[in-house]
Amino acid sequence: MSETTFAEEQSSTEVSSSKTVTLRIAKFNPDHDSGQQFVDFKVPYERWTTVLDAVLDVKKHLDHSVAVRYSCRQASCGSCGMKINGRPRLACFTKISELNSDVVTVEPMNNYPIIRDLVVKLDQMFENHKKVQPFLLREDSEITGPTKEFNQTPEQLEEYIQFANCIKCGLCNSACPTMATDSSFLGPQALGQAYRYVADNRDKGKNSRLKIIDDSHGIWRCHFAGSCSQVCPKGVDPAMGIQFLRGYLLGFRK
Ligand code: SF4
Ligand code: FES
Repeated sequence: MSETTFAEEQSSTEVSSSKTVTLRIAKFNPDHDSGQQFVDFKVPYERWTTVLDAVLDVKKHLDHSVAVRYSCRQASCGSCGMKINGRPRLACFTKISELNSDVVTVEPMNNYPIIRDLVVKLDQMFENHKKVQPFLLREDSEITGPTKEFNQTPEQLEEYIQFANCIKCGLCNSACPTMATDSSFLGPQALGQAYRYVADNRDKGKNSRLKIIDDSHGIWRCHFAGSCSQVCPKGVDPAMGIQFLRGYLLGFRK
């Protein structure tokens, strides 16, 4: 019996460890199609293959027309949000092997207009984000011509730092049941960022920001379902931020 070389062993291991999954992709072009259609593709995957890798594999080898948005491929830019097996996730941060399913269905995120296939329009989310003034507000010249550092204690930083991790991926708005019924709702992404700046001791714009969110389509519209916080890939807890903002308006927090 002939002995196998190390290279042959390696190669046979690689082949045997390669599995396939059915990637079910939602295709929809609003310019031509009357409705969404699902198309199945068989794709190979390894333990480390992400859903984004699989979608790009399809795009490269099987259907060039699949529309998908991505950039960093490392859960930093917030571009690749989509619904994966029914839940909003980052495609570059979701491994096929972790889904424990022979079929992986990818669809555009809920609560956003579809541009094409897996790509949604995030304009309204960014408009809402701008409305809450997501920057330090101060009357003095320390913003335009700073003369010294803004020192903060670890405790002061702790008040808001997790909210500063938001990458504006929009998964939270997509998971939010209130956003599904009220397109004027500011949404967990914008409200979480309102809290981020209100809680920052360097900021002096609390009253102006609270005035903006004290609205029936602002913090009072949230039903506290908490799904926004469950899906956030960066550990931000917008539902908690919304409760804290209510605390300021109700006089429980200063
Ligand atoms: S709060 Fe989380 S889910 Fe929402 S946009 Fe920011 S990073 Fe994404
Ligand atoms: S590609 Fe940047 S977050 Fe996924």
